[in-house]
Amino acid sequence: MSITPHGGGLVNRFAPEGAREALLETAKTLPHIEVDAYAAFDIDGIAKGLFSPLTGFMGAEETERVLENMELRPGIPWTIPILLPMQANAVASVEVGDKIAIDDERGDTVAIMQVEEKFQLDQQRLVEKVYRTTDTGHPGVAYSLSRGDVYLAGPINVLAERCVEHQDYNLTPVQTRAAFEERGWRRIVAFQTRNPIHRAHEYLTKCALEMCDGLLIHPLMGTTKSDDIPGDVRMQCYHALLENYYPADHVMLSIMPVNMRYAGPREAVMHAIVRKNYGCTHFIVGRDHAGVGNFYGSYDAHYIFDEIDPVALGITPLFFEHAFFSKRTNEMATKKTCPGTNEDHIFLSGTKVREMLSNGEAPPPEFTRPEVARILIDWATQQA
Ligand code: ADX
Repeated sequence: MSITPHGGGLVNRFAPEGAREALLETAKTLPHIEVDAYAAFDIDGIAKGLFSPLTGFMGAEETERVLENMELRPGIPWTIPILLPMQANAVASVEVGDKIAIDDERGDTVAIMQVEEKFQLDQQRLVEKVYRTTDTGHPGVAYSLSRGDVYLAGPINVLAERCVEHQDYNLTPVQTRAAFEERGWRRIVAFQTRNPIHRAHEYLTKCALEMCDGLLIHPLMGTTKSDDIPGDVRMQCYHALLENYYPADHVMLSIMPVNMRYAGPREAVMHAIVRKNYGCTHFIVGRDHAGVGNFYGSYDAHYIFDEIDPVALGITPLFFEHAFFSKRTNEMATKKTCPGTNEDHIFLSGTKVREMLSNGEAPPPEFTRPEVARILIDWATQQA
């Protein structure tokens, strides 16, 4: 028996195969709006049930409840509103009750929306609640404020899956649930990452796997900020690592086509909820999960779970402290599991690692497996 999806059932908002052609014809007769890749990924996520129980973009009341109470409806925790903001002039003629067609940035008609609400929000308050800051130096805040300020809400019918690179590894929640079932995994831990997997990440995943039947390595592959390492380079790193350092019968790699919001604590909870929908029972939350710069405290993404009813959440977070290689004990560890001072630890900042890579220098094996380092050096030196 697999874990119940958030809100009770997995949503599927794809128009049935046989109805798509007719809906595409209907779409031609409707007013069209155009959205960017970020909104297109949100549409895809709603369609596949990643955001179950959402069936469309959220309305004003739901948004307010999410911002204020961190719930979608009573008993259904939710931390980040999934919204469709548009520039006022682009939707000037759209009215509540209309059906509209949505085109993505590639020019494809991807969905039909029944507009149930058209509203405005205090955007400063929105970003303050979601990101805990209004500083436009925060990439999530800057992006949010750059979007329009007229919000459309209502259910969507989606006409096409968003095809992304690594489509073979882009399993839907229905498919991951079936794969877990087939493997006989009951306790499945998901690992969120937007980076190559370094030794600290590997340590968390393996500690977690000791307590579970299976590990889902679930890298985020929606939109990310431009200086994050590109998805195809990361995929090469994951493959190299899986081939050499993980047992195939307890580990699965699949991507999560969701946008990175860099919202730290609130995003950690969303990341857990989405993984619950994928059928996972446990979720890894480490140091500064989904953080960026110095906007969040190292363990803020742990503390937020104290504010959420664990039963209603329904997926178990596994918290990890800052992991590093300990020269004293000659192994990966955290302050919980090894003695010694900071001098005994091998820790490299992201900036230092980038510097080393672009000089063609491999970070030490205590930080990154050599197979991964090689891929990253090749990529970084091509960029330089
Ligand atoms: S994230 O934006 O996806 O959170 P990243 O890919 O760096 O960024 O991290 C993936 C997961 O590993 C997150 O849960 C994060 O908290 C955790 N993590 C990253 N580095 C460390 C570390 N050195 N020690 C403990 N946890 C870490």
